Amino acid sequence: MEFLLKNATLPDGRSNMDIACKGGLIVAVERGIDAEAKTVIDAAGQLVAPPFVDPHFHMDATLSLGNPRLNSSGTLLEGIALWGELKPVQTVDEIISRALRYCDLAVAMGIGAIRSHVDICDDELKGVEALLEVRRQVAPYLDLQLVAFPQDGVFRAPTAKQNLNRALDMGVDVVGGIPHFERSMADGAASVRYLCELAAARGLMVDMHCDESDDPMSRHVETLAQETTRLGLEGRVAGSHLTSMHSMDNYYVSKLIPLMAEAGLHAIPNPLINIMLQGRHDSYPKRRGQTRVPELRAAGINIGFGSDCMMDPWYSLGKADMLDVAHMGLHVGQLSSRDDMRWCFEAVTENSARIMGLEGYGLARGCKADMVLLQAADPIEAIRLRPARLAVIRGGKVIASAAPQVSKLALKGRPAVVNPADYAP
Ligand code: FE2
Repeated sequence: MEFLLKNATLPDGRSNMDIACKGGLIVAVERGIDAEAKTVIDAAGQLVAPPFVDPHFHMDATLSLGNPRLNSSGTLLEGIALWGELKPVQTVDEIISRALRYCDLAVAMGIGAIRSHVDICDDELKGVEALLEVRRQVAPYLDLQLVAFPQDGVFRAPTAKQNLNRALDMGVDVVGGIPHFERSMADGAASVRYLCELAAARGLMVDMHCDESDDPMSRHVETLAQETTRLGLEGRVAGSHLTSMHSMDNYYVSKLIPLMAEAGLHAIPNPLINIMLQGRHDSYPKRRGQTRVPELRAAGINIGFGSDCMMDPWYSLGKADMLDVAHMGLHVGQLSSRDDMRWCFEAVTENSARIMGLEGYGLARGCKADMVLLQAADPIEAIRLRPARLAVIRGGKVIASAAPQVSKLALKGRPAVVNPADYAP
């Protein structure tokens, strides 16, 4: 064997499990594997999971915080305007350098796959050129999937249609959109139809920023579901954000959610950004702006939580921690039962892998030998603690590691060390 993990707890609760890997694949997941291996790690009962998957990110904008200035209102629209100021002055090399630096952190935090939108509303397609190069460079340690994203509106920006097709010709993987940002509701609906037809003709997946507003009448997700069904794209289309659903009329939603389920749409809320950017026109009470996660889940719709941003025009914080994302999604959605909390872990792992169509993902025999060992007893503890990634494994090799988190105490009559993981129920 090349790699053997001993005494691990799996996300499904099985304990004392060993995982043996060879040729970049998992060859056995059993108790008491007795084999020699080049690298052996004793998990000592801690949780091993398949890698975190971020189904929604903007890698062309990441780590640009403060450049050329900060977002003073904190709103989505000022963020878009600020990004519009940065786009013409940034270089391909700058985008590559920031993106690679982000990927270093993402890998250390146990992320194994990222779907990143890339803005195509720049006639030079600098972001596309940069992220295609980044995708090539990180391929040995990170799966990067790119979405052609018309940030300024595929109909609203004069050259966006042409640029979007050029980006897809260059090798961008997925068709994006932003219907709520087009000039009118009618244009928004037409953009959904245009983009879904384009994806169907090219055999590609679709992932749209859809209804990222508090406007209950922003109903482009309905058109997205309808077009998905009409074009036979079931299972290949995702609606990102869907924040207007938070504010919609309940009767309307009772019709909408079954349509979304019928279309096999995936939903991608971005809890950190949604709670930060939505409800900005409200006084009190302020809406939360996260889409209806429990109700979508109950309808059988696959949901993955995305991080969306880190230190960019829209969001100043973040550390590539998908457990921060799950933690926020859990709180905002009041997903507090044991089952709900375990599901939040799935929303940043297997559900998001399904959205991206990742092959060989999981901790079963025959899957890729990719996994992350956490300093936590189980998925709920992982969300509670957002702990150290003790080891990140890719293709059966350790590509990142961290020391366990422990604090020393200097209190008379109290323990010498304290570790939040020791407080597990
Ligand atoms: Fe986004």
